[in-house]
Amino acid sequence: HVLDIDPNAASKGTYEFYMLKEIDEQPGVMRKLSQDYLDVNGEPVLDQKIVDAVSEADRLYIYAAGTSYNAGLVGKEFFEKLTGIPTEVGLASEVGYHFPMLSKKPFFIFLTQSGETADSRVVLKEANKRGIPSLTLTNVQGSTLSREADYTILLEAGPEIAVASTKAYTAQLAVQVILAKAVGEKLGVKAAKDFPLKKQLALAAEGMQQIVDGKAKFDELASDYLIKSRNAFYIGRGIDYAVSLEGALKLKEVSYIQTEGFAAAELKHGTISLIEKGTPVIALINDPVTAELTRGNIREVESRGAHVISIVSHDLAQAGDTVVLPKIDYLMSAFLTVVPAQLLAYFASKNKGLDVDKPRNLAKSVTVE
Ligand code: G6P
Repeated sequence: HVLDIDPNAASKGTYEFYMLKEIDEQPGVMRKLSQDYLDVNGEPVLDQKIVDAVSEADRLYIYAAGTSYNAGLVGKEFFEKLTGIPTEVGLASEVGYHFPMLSKKPFFIFLTQSGETADSRVVLKEANKRGIPSLTLTNVQGSTLSREADYTILLEAGPEIAVASTKAYTAQLAVQVILAKAVGEKLGVKAAKDFPLKKQLALAAEGMQQIVDGKAKFDELASDYLIKSRNAFYIGRGIDYAVSLEGALKLKEVSYIQTEGFAAAELKHGTISLIEKGTPVIALINDPVTAELTRGNIREVESRGAHVISIVSHDLAQAGDTVVLPKIDYLMSAFLTVVPAQLLAYFASKNKGLDVDKPRNLAKSVTVE
């Protein structure tokens, strides 16, 4: 049954912090999105005008900030695999005043939990000036970016109170993959027609539930390996690289442990000099094509003293892996991989005695450039 998210009920209940409540709500958000945006046969039910407009584009441009930008990096995979339309992802703050060379028929997609981020608004204003069609994916109905764009799809994640974004990220993944399937089907792309999205979203919800039910493990890992470290690394390739950036952002923003996300193979081109005895390296492995190569990168850092926490897909797991993820298609892997990353960040912050929901110097929504 679908978890009923009351948009006015933003109470913490028995939770000490909103961040954990919001992490725990993700399976329910996935079920709600699946119910609201897919019909019983698993076909997307989105505003046809939006699907038509995106289908006409020869290139998609995704703009966002912070965690939403990281969600866009995963979205690029969805759009390119399921629609065949080349997709670029940019940091709104960099694009506003350094506009890219555009294709003949560009379509802009804005990802913004709050719908108020000033950096993203600058890009949208410029797009409107140039008559570029646009869509905002936001959690807040009637928000500024929603009003100023041609189209809006709501994330339906319910209010997100913790400054560090969690359920809005996974809702952004879900809405992007649903839109990608709808557009791909309209364009007659086989990969979109064949993709069993309803089943995969159900696996995402079930898998997330299993991971949050086993949260005690991440509490221990954070205490044993993270909280005494000054720095840490996330490594991965492909979609795992995109999730590495989000995992690193999550950990550093709430725990103040300086954490960088790296493309697994890039580490050896410089950053590996930072590895010391006990440096935590969180390695994400979901892509069957590059799994063995990333295993090689794990051996490189281990031989220099790193403590590796491996988070590995069900099918690629080996003896000794730290976390084995529930089963899901590689294209959907970010839905599951990010949850251990969120939990590690949460427990690292909490176990250091920090204010998890309100890290110093940060604001939930940033309305200055
Ligand atoms: C702030 C928040 C981040 C968020 C970013 C973008 O910096 O602290 O958690 O990812 O803004 O916000 P948006 O509402 O546009 O997704």
